[in-house]
Amino acid sequence: MKTLTKVLIASVAVALLAVKWSAPTFNAESLRGAKVLLTGASTGIGEQMAYHYAKFGAQIVITARREQVLKKVAEKCLGLGAQKALYIAADMGINSDHERVVDFALDQLGGLDYLVLNHIGPTPFSAWDGDVEHLEWLMKVNFLSYTHMTWKALPSLEKSNGSVVVVSSLLGKVTSPFVAPYTSTKFALNGFFGALSHELAMKNSNVMITLCTLGLIDTDSAMEKVKDVSSVPAYPASEAALNIIKTAATKERELFYPWYTYIVTLVRDFFPASRDYVIQKSYKNRP
Ligand SMILES: *[C@@H]1O[C@H](CO)[C@@H](O)[C@H](O)[C@H]1NC(C)=O
Repeated sequence: MKTLTKVLIASVAVALLAVKWSAPTFNAESLRGAKVLLTGASTGIGEQMAYHYAKFGAQIVITARREQVLKKVAEKCLGLGAQKALYIAADMGINSDHERVVDFALDQLGGLDYLVLNHIGPTPFSAWDGDVEHLEWLMKVNFLSYTHMTWKALPSLEKSNGSVVVVSSLLGKVTSPFVAPYTSTKFALNGFFGALSHELAMKNSNVMITLCTLGLIDTDSAMEKVKDVSSVPAYPASEAALNIIKTAATKERELFYPWYTYIVTLVRDFFPASRDYVIQKSYKNRP
């Protein structure tokens, strides 16, 4: 066991260093004037991404459900230096809104460099109670809308050598209790966009899919859910947002943020029984 532990630690260290060394350097200038469509932008990581893109001088279209909140975020983006900051209110639970949003961005920006898919629908943090209707709705909001919007934007992204940025979660790599619908949608994203990424590469497409695996981030909605039950540390939304933007701008396939999401993904199948024990013990209380 002692040797095994050493081998494990050494492989993790080597893997981390390899990731660090092979990362290309980020050029902020590459985002000046970049045409960005960003979803889930009224709050949390999406809102922070809007502000970062604005500071880099991008042209952005933001979307979410609440028009008044979007308006405020867009105004702040203009103040921070966005070349353009437009907003469109939309409900990702409505099929026609998926295409309406992409059409609006293509019309207003005259093309697209980044389709940043970040929105999620609200979901209870509780044991699965058989609510299939909620699961179907959440699959539409968190997953199917991502596939529709990507398909709609793909011709334009082909022209610009653009990127689809998919904000996923460690819960798309590893399961956890009390989040069955949410984790299902994130696993679905990883499956779908993994397959699409292969297909694009195999036809020599210049469109890049950047898949982001995030751990617990200190957004209001996440903190509200886990505050009494989980002892996992939360990382800042603004830093998560900046990491996503840099990873996409340097055309990398994957982001793991924070660092532990990479290690968990790497070792998740080594010792299944210990993994499940640790996950179940990380909940101080039941929600
Ligand atoms: C996209 O990439 C191809 C191949 O690298 C290049 O020839 C083309 O000029 C690029 N197009 C744009 C719009 O950057």
